[in-house]
Amino acid sequence: MSLRVAVLISGAGTNLQALLDTVHRKHGIEIAAVASSTPTAGGLARAERAGIETAVFPIVDQRDRAARDHALGDWLEQRSIELVVLAGFMELLDPGLVRRFAGRMINIHPALLPAFPGVRAIEQALDYGVKVTGVTVHFVDEGIDTGPIILQECFELPYSRDIGEIEQRVHAVEHRLLPRAVRLIAQGSVRIDERNPRLVHIDERGDGGERGDV
Ligand code: GRF
Repeated sequence: MSLRVAVLISGAGTNLQALLDTVHRKHGIEIAAVASSTPTAGGLARAERAGIETAVFPIVDQRDRAARDHALGDWLEQRSIELVVLAGFMELLDPGLVRRFAGRMINIHPALLPAFPGVRAIEQALDYGVKVTGVTVHFVDEGIDTGPIILQECFELPYSRDIGEIEQRVHAVEHRLLPRAVRLIAQGSVRIDERNPRLVHIDERGDGGERGDV
C-alpha cells in the first residue's frame, strides 16, 4: 500500500511538480489529490496533466474559513489521505483542520525558521540583511510556521542581493528538500520525540517499514 498524499497549492505549483517528478508512484508514495485555494493556480494544470484528481476550495464560496476548511477536510478524508503537503498554500488554515491532520500535515517555508515566518519570507530576509538563508520543511501546528522542524537546508546569500536570483536558489533547494521529507515520512523515518515534541528525529535508514512501489 502506498502512502496517500494530498498537495495543497495556491500558485505556480513548482513544488508540486518536483513531487510529481521525483516521488509520485515511487518510494511507496501516491500523490492522490491536489486542492487549490484559487481556480487560477497554475499548479492545477500540472496535476491534471499527471492525471491527478483536483478540486478548488475558494473561501468566497463558503460562509467562513472554518466552513471552507471543514469541507476541505471532508474531501481529503473521503479520499483516504494520510499526509497533507502544503506547497505554496497561501492561506491560513482553520485550527480545526490542523487538529484533524495533526502530525500528518507538513509545510515548506522559504526561510530558516523561526526567522522570517509568514508571507514574503525571502524579502524579509533580504531586508534584514542576513548573510545566510534557506528552506524549512516542518509539521503544521496552529501557529504561523511554528510547527516542529523536519528538515532545513541553508545557503549563503550573494552580495548582489538580486531577488530573482535568490528566489531561484530557494526554489532549487525546495525542490530537493520537500520530496526528501515526503520520502522519509513514507519510509517511516520521521518521528516526533515523545519527551520533547519540538524535536523531530530522522532515521535515514528507516525502520524497515518502507512501503513497496505501486
Ligand atoms: C514556495 O517558495 C514555498 O516555499 C512558499 O510558496 C512558494 C510556492 O511556490 N510557501 P510553488 O507554487 O511551489 O512554485
